[in-house]
Amino acid sequence: MATKLHVIGNWKMHGSKQHVAAFCTEIANAPSKHSSKHLAKVEVAICPPFVYLHQAAKLLAQIPAIKLGAQDLSRYESGAYTGQIAASMLVDIGCRYVIIGHSERRQYNHESNEEIAAKFFAAKSAGLIPILCVGETKEQRERNQTESIILEQIHAVLSQSQKGADCFNQALIAYEPVWAIGTGLTATPELAQAIHHLLRQTIAEYDANVAEQLPILYGGSVKASNATELFRMPDVDGALVGGASLQPTDFLAICEIAKNLAE
Ligand code: PGA
Repeated sequence: MATKLHVIGNWKMHGSKQHVAAFCTEIANAPSKHSSKHLAKVEVAICPPFVYLHQAAKLLAQIPAIKLGAQDLSRYESGAYTGQIAASMLVDIGCRYVIIGHSERRQYNHESNEEIAAKFFAAKSAGLIPILCVGETKEQRERNQTESIILEQIHAVLSQSQKGADCFNQALIAYEPVWAIGTGLTATPELAQAIHHLLRQTIAEYDANVAEQLPILYGGSVKASNATELFRMPDVDGALVGGASLQPTDFLAICEIAKNLAE
């Protein structure tokens, strides 16, 4: 198990200037048990849409326990790529994390494993911490392809790495079964644990130390009511939270569970 539990909020295409302001104000004014100091044992971040990153960065400067992440980035460093956002721009604006290869981007933007790997290394070169999302669809699970799909997604990154599994130093993996995202269906803790263990074992075949330190988050309908049992699993190192990250009280409740387990 990695050293720190991570709780990362993926806002997807939700929010507004008003929402960002209200979210940050409510967190800044939360009772002391939710205070920044209290969250020190947990790594917490939110990933709002690109256009709100600047505003969120300014407001989060007052809440050091909550870091900032983006939901995607370009594989290219700079150039004539209309509409794309470079890793260096995300660093410039104060991001620490970036989500890579979310299933919604794989599905709606047809991102391939190869492109996702290129984005992963673009993030790393700029000093961002990539959160590499992997996971199977309902159909793939029903066809017993879960393990092979996930291993393919991981190997796509490993095969482009100049330094083997070292690329997963200062990186996170999020196992997000597609059938559990936004559906209210959550993988059972045992099912999540089995896949997380497989992921860690796969990395350990290359480098046991990297595998041991690597935070592997679970994502897919995580909320306060199911977080405890998921976080208790030995290879579940936190969560990538979608819907329940939009309201400060819901999100803080998950952070609080992580914090209590970390103590
Ligand atoms: P969800 O989304 O928590 O709303 O299921 C998780 C994600 O897609 O990262």
